[in-house]
Amino acid sequence: MSQPPRTILLAGASRGLGLGLTEEYLGRGWQVIATARQPDRAAGLARLQGDHLTVEQLDVADPASVSALAGRLGGRRLDVLFVVAGVNAHAHVPVHEVGQADVAREFITNATGPVALAEALQANLAPDATVAFMTSVLGSIGSNTGGGWELYRASKAALNMLVTCYALRHKGSPVLLLHPGWVRTEMGGPNAQLDVPTSVRGLADVIGAHEGKAGIAYLDHAGAELPW
Ligand SMILES: NC(=O)c1ccc[n+]([C@@H]2O[C@H](COP(=O)([O-])OP(=O)(O)OC[C@H]3O[C@@H](n4cnc5c(N)ncnc54)[C@H](OP(=O)(O)O)[C@@H]3O)[C@@H](O)[C@H]2O)c1
Repeated sequence: MSQPPRTILLAGASRGLGLGLTEEYLGRGWQVIATARQPDRAAGLARLQGDHLTVEQLDVADPASVSALAGRLGGRRLDVLFVVAGVNAHAHVPVHEVGQADVAREFITNATGPVALAEALQANLAPDATVAFMTSVLGSIGSNTGGGWELYRASKAALNMLVTCYALRHKGSPVLLLHPGWVRTEMGGPNAQLDVPTSVRGLADVIGAHEGKAGIAYLDHAGAELPW
């Protein structure tokens, strides 16, 4: 007898890697709940519409939007939650020159918001669900030899720490911090090494390989461990 399709929620799927992951998981036969801050303006998701895709509104930096999503999901069970959303502003400005509102926005979007979302959706997670967060190698303190990207690096390092705390609160769950590689998206720019399909195929394979494995791992799209 065939298994019912599994379900993934991709938070931050209007474009870039989140949109690519939506396409990848639909191609693998999954049910996908893809979120966008402005669903009516998410043209890429509109092109993918079908029975296996549900599009929901979500701003990970807005607690009201997070709890509204949790309410709309009702009892829908998630096999994987992957928080992909992220921002990168002021990459070439030292952090002391960035305004306080922008600092707060980047930390809330990249670090605290993703963890708050995972906590808000606990009731929806299957007992062995994988919870994945899109971080970056730039969040690795151990491999920072070049500097730059200060606010972004700090926000992703904060995400790595907060997700480590999350994994300790939820011992027994598979928790992943994933670096997608340097990818040609709006954030990655046109000179990046990887195209979106290559990165998302790798990310989905890494998530699949870690299903059911309790504990936290910090890995890239090829499954290589990254230094903290
Ligand atoms: N591309 C790379 O080389 C690279 C490398 C390392 C890590 N990453 C990480 O990978 C993730 C995806 O990046 P990307 O390259 O696909 O970037 P992107 O093309 O700029 O897309 C960013 C996505 O995040 C969403 N988003 C931003 N703020 C949000 C919020 N407050 N609530 C919900 N969604 C929000 C955006 O939605 P809107 O359309 O509404 O703005 C968009 O869907 C990010 O976490 C990024 O840090 C990327």
